[in-house]
Amino acid sequence: MKNEWYKSMSFYQIWIRSFYDGNGDGIGDLYGVYEKLEYIKSLNVDGIWFSPLYPSPNADFGYDISDYRNIHTDYGDLEQFRKVLNRAHELGMKVIMDLVINHTSDEHPWFIESRKSRNNPYSDYYIWRDAKNGKLPNNWDSLFEGKAWEYCPEREQYYLHIFAKKQPDLNMDNPKVREEVKDIMRFWLDMGVDGFREDVITFISKAKNLPDGLPFIPAANGMPYYKDGPHIHEYLSEFREVCKEYDCFQLGEGPMTTTKSALLYMNGKDKVLDLMFHFDHMMADCIFTEYIRRPFKLTRLKRAFRKWQKELNGRAWNTLYLENHDHPRVISRYGSEKFHRESGTMLAVCYLFQQGTPFVYQGQEIGMTNIRLDSIDKYIDVSSKNNYHSFHLKDSVAKRLARIHASSRDSSRTPMQWDSSENAGFTTGTPWFYVNPNYKKINVADEEKDPQSILNFYRKCLKYRKKSEVALWGDYTEYYKASEHLFVYRRSYKNKYLLIVCSFSPHKLKWRNIREFRDRKGRLAICNYKNPKRGILKPYEARVYEY
Ligand code: NOJ
Repeated sequence: MKNEWYKSMSFYQIWIRSFYDGNGDGIGDLYGVYEKLEYIKSLNVDGIWFSPLYPSPNADFGYDISDYRNIHTDYGDLEQFRKVLNRAHELGMKVIMDLVINHTSDEHPWFIESRKSRNNPYSDYYIWRDAKNGKLPNNWDSLFEGKAWEYCPEREQYYLHIFAKKQPDLNMDNPKVREEVKDIMRFWLDMGVDGFREDVITFISKAKNLPDGLPFIPAANGMPYYKDGPHIHEYLSEFREVCKEYDCFQLGEGPMTTTKSALLYMNGKDKVLDLMFHFDHMMADCIFTEYIRRPFKLTRLKRAFRKWQKELNGRAWNTLYLENHDHPRVISRYGSEKFHRESGTMLAVCYLFQQGTPFVYQGQEIGMTNIRLDSIDKYIDVSSKNNYHSFHLKDSVAKRLARIHASSRDSSRTPMQWDSSENAGFTTGTPWFYVNPNYKKINVADEEKDPQSILNFYRKCLKYRKKSEVALWGDYTEYYKASEHLFVYRRSYKNKYLLIVCSFSPHKLKWRNIREFRDRKGRLAICNYKNPKRGILKPYEARVYEY
């Protein structure tokens, strides 16, 4: 079906700065990506999602764009991008770009003009307000940095920034801004890209008059007035028209999105997005953000999976992911660094066999883990630093740092570990950021040689899923729902079944297979241990049965 190719695909996400350095300057780039395209293809994925490649002052590592129609000089140029795009296409992989249109960089020419005066061609491109009774225009907090308003002396006004100060929010109510967005989309689609991952797209329409938010939710107090705002469907349907001119697809990021609101975007004749990233299953060990910790609970994770599997089935299509550039590494969260291989492979099974389009984030396929730097000054992520300096200030330094170790986005942004040579083979120069010291044990080259490795296991699962109608299209039923150790679900399609069994326990676990399985003769298709035993699951064991 036109436009529905994404349903049977899987994607690999590249956060380029840390992927592979092709020119020896210590920064990952498109020359490096070009060299690794065969590697990516060998994982059995069918597409690549590039986090932003555009020119950016990097206040938020590319999510603060200063030119939408170019490539950051750190990463190459448009010609090199075209080379990567064409080669990826030759290898049978689609390429999607990040479209960041809720905000730009404050160094974008639109903002540079906009801040100059209240009446110039760009003055209404952003959200400007006068002070209110000598105070800020409203009480909103920024999700990243203090309050959501920054004063601009030239205009004697404040501008809104839901994220960092250097990320002013665009005024999407201005039709000229929406025309700009459509032009940007056409620019990349004309070049041949296959779609977009649309950054915080559910935030682009703000409530009229920007009312004060709820005072008791720090950082997100204004969210009820900018999430799923009054004109969001209208604006997204304008963008959808552009996509309809091409065979392109749209994946929207929806922080705090519920199944109910997601279905409004993805289902029915007014469909404006093909897929969405939600965050529900990323909160099994935290509340709202990774920075607010709570102990991991398997039932919480399963409930989130179940909800999305059930409520989207037949109505919309799920995305499946456990990692990206915004979350710490999943083995360090939901698995166990001690049972590295076992839990890394189990986690692969746990999500790759659900219904939806899977995403694998760079380094996840070799089981990269969190980095633990000994001082907050060594961290670079704006939100990590700000959390550290704004919250829990009465806690000891050790406790606050431990929270950063568990939560920082920087853990997913350390250089990719290619081999056990200096700097993990990421660069011949000096790496732009700390390499995780465990690269001697965790790296691509060693895992290539080991048939039992996490890397080869990912390949196996992704290959299996591509060929299995049940894995691709089947319905989802869960068993042992109340267990805090066992995650068991069944996929069913045209009288064929897959049964997925995952142990989240570091101990041996006694278990009994479900009745239905015992009554029919099944076959073990995939397992992360060599000799699985009847009635016993070893630590973090994972099995896929077919019957
Ligand atoms: C979501 C992106 O994934 C994240 O990295 C970024 O910081 C925010 N949106 C703001 O653009």
